Amino acid sequence: MNTATRVLVTGGAGFIGSHYVRTLLGPSGPGGTQVTVLDKLTYAGNPANLDPVRDHPGFGFVHGDVCDPVLVDKLVSEHDQIVHFAAESHVDRSIAGAEAFVRTNVLGTQTLLDAAVRNRISTVVQVSTDEVYGSVDTGSWTEAQPLGPNSPYAASKASADLIALSHHRTHGLDVRVTRCSNNYGPYQFPEKVVPLFITRLLRGGRVPLYGDGSHVRDWLHVDDHVRALELVRTRGRAGEVYHVGGGTELSNRELTDLLLEACGADRSRVDHVEDRKGHDRRYSVDWTKIRDELGYRPGKDFATGLAETVAWYRDNPSWWQPLLDRAAL
Ligand SMILES: NC(=O)c1ccc[n+]([C@@H]2O[C@H](COP(=O)([O-])OP(=O)(O)OC[C@H]3O[C@@H](n4cnc5c(N)ncnc54)[C@H](O)[C@@H]3O)[C@@H](O)[C@H]2O)c1
Repeated sequence: MNTATRVLVTGGAGFIGSHYVRTLLGPSGPGGTQVTVLDKLTYAGNPANLDPVRDHPGFGFVHGDVCDPVLVDKLVSEHDQIVHFAAESHVDRSIAGAEAFVRTNVLGTQTLLDAAVRNRISTVVQVSTDEVYGSVDTGSWTEAQPLGPNSPYAASKASADLIALSHHRTHGLDVRVTRCSNNYGPYQFPEKVVPLFITRLLRGGRVPLYGDGSHVRDWLHVDDHVRALELVRTRGRAGEVYHVGGGTELSNRELTDLLLEACGADRSRVDHVEDRKGHDRRYSVDWTKIRDELGYRPGKDFATGLAETVAWYRDNPSWWQPLLDRAAL
């Protein structure tokens, strides 16, 4: 008899983690998987993101902190694999104060990994970001690029990646690190640029564009990121780093124009605001390795993905309105 794989998903009430859980337990998921979400439900965690799978027999939820060693040890001992999303994730907040970032992103990751070693976990996927490399004007980084993070957020994620890889080298733990470009899609907390702009424009408001708007990001639909994570969890190799990219590279000005158009607004709704401190100009990952090794390819073209995302926010004000009120956005 096959026994179900028990996957502990930290941060599964957030944007990408909840998409991952909904996918894993949804009709296109692998089946035979039991998922427990461990989430502290910070301002960014929203139990409603998990409503579509709440009654699934393979779903469980634990409200708790990834930095709590007793809770984490108990939970880890009851699972086979870990996919680690839990993090403080907003760069602007890390500039205002880095303590929570170091605590959750670094100490939380170490707490989880120590428990994984003690409990002989078979695989840990450390979900990370392209921001750990710093900024690149031209070309793309391979996985061999040295880390050079600039924001406190990126520095905390880089530290977490190094701690994770050290647990592979030192203890032989099967850790796989992914570094993905900027995600967009439904259920993203409306402080991040895409949902912030959409929700402001849908309410008839104005949007803030940092500096000269020339900063460039690769935009990838969250579906594609989640598919890549599943490939890495199920078929990736221990101790390896995989880049996930291949979205659409846009300057913030170009992104703003597309969002204005999608929401039926024009440039008169844009406020040019002082640039973010230490703002990285461009991120770009070379994702040849995950393509050649695991057959990953992004599937969602940006025009379709953006139109669907705008439609989702238009159709679901009851999801985002309370969040805006709570976060005074
Ligand atoms: N959003 C992106 O574009 C992007 C791109 C690449 C990588 N990532 C990484 O993906 C992961 C998820 O990002 P996201 O955008 O979904 O973030 P998010 O902010 O939407 O969600 C983070 C989740 O972690 C939970 N959390 C925070 N601190 C916790 C703690 N101490 N213990 C337990 N749970 C805690 C929050 O409650 C929330 O549910 C992060 O690790 C982030 O660094 C994000």
